Amino acid sequence: MKAIEVRDLKKYYREVKAVDGVTFDVEEGEFFGFLGPNGAGKSTTIRILTTLTRPTSGKAVVAGYDVVKDGKQVRSKIGLVSDKLILYDRLTVLENLLFFGRLYNMEKKTMMERAEELLTMLDLWERRNTQASKLSTGMKQKVNIARALLPRPEILFLDEPTIGLDPITTRKIRDFVKRLNEEGMTIVYTTHLLHEAETLCDRVAIINKGKIVALDTPRNLKRLFTEREVVEFELERPVEINLDCCRVLENVGNYYKVETTDLSRFVEELGKLPVKVRYIKSEEPSLEDIFVKIAGGE
Ligand SMILES: Nc1ncnc2c1ncn2[C@@H]1O[C@H](COP(=O)(O)OP(=O)(O)OP(=O)(O)O)[C@@H](O)[C@H]1O
Ligand SMILES: [Mg+2]
Repeated sequence: MKAIEVRDLKKYYREVKAVDGVTFDVEEGEFFGFLGPNGAGKSTTIRILTTLTRPTSGKAVVAGYDVVKDGKQVRSKIGLVSDKLILYDRLTVLENLLFFGRLYNMEKKTMMERAEELLTMLDLWERRNTQASKLSTGMKQKVNIARALLPRPEILFLDEPTIGLDPITTRKIRDFVKRLNEEGMTIVYTTHLLHEAETLCDRVAIINKGKIVALDTPRNLKRLFTEREVVEFELERPVEINLDCCRVLENVGNYYKVETTDLSRFVEELGKLPVKVRYIKSEEPSLEDIFVKIAGGE
């Protein structure tokens, strides 16, 4: 069984096509990323899959249940960490968790054990009696994550969970989510940070203006969208580079930066020159380059 099946899903707000016919599957145990610029339709897609909003048309099945017809069953299988923090200011960290745990109909004992386990893992157990209003943004987000995980969901949705957090907290959250995934949890993660998608996800759907414009592993996406590579190198002495497999972008003394469509051939040709190569470096394009290309409409 697939963890998620989405077919021609649409959500229109009057003339705004927030989600405009997306189709994709998420495998069980997969770390699936949604990458796209502001307003691309990431949150709307997540909101439909987590039953917070109804699609205009199309179909979405989450953990075997239809998001429109079987909302309740879907909700019992999933956790959501949204970009909006959902906590009660006047309750303490622990009280917040227990409050939400009761909503999930959890037993008190199981709830307490699980709350302690999660808060400990997220370095928050010491702060369990602090009022939510007195927590920092990062701490609040961690409580949010603990809250989503309390009922041990099969699928965890995270909508830009690291937004506004410092690099250390960001890393901790990423590592934590990665570990959950390694333990078998299916993860759907939205971000507009490309390196984040690149390092975390098994597959990434790039979404723009409500449509999926590309869906593949980060590695394949890079391959798919790179026609040329940039190579930097230094020779022992300056010579004129006149090869038809490359174009010189920059040359200062014996330093060169060239662009090539055929890296292996270029390296071979370079080796034939009557001068030694001091160093050579090829920069792999980042997912960022690809993203800018796609979002730019190229
Ligand atoms: N409740 C709503 N009513 C009207 N329009 C909406 C509503 N929610 C979203 N939209 C519109 O749908 C489009 C997609 O929004 P969405 O929040 O899904 O984007 P996003 O990819 O999550 O962007 P961001 O990176 O900024 O969070 C936007 O044009 C937005 O204005
Ligand atoms: Mg969003």
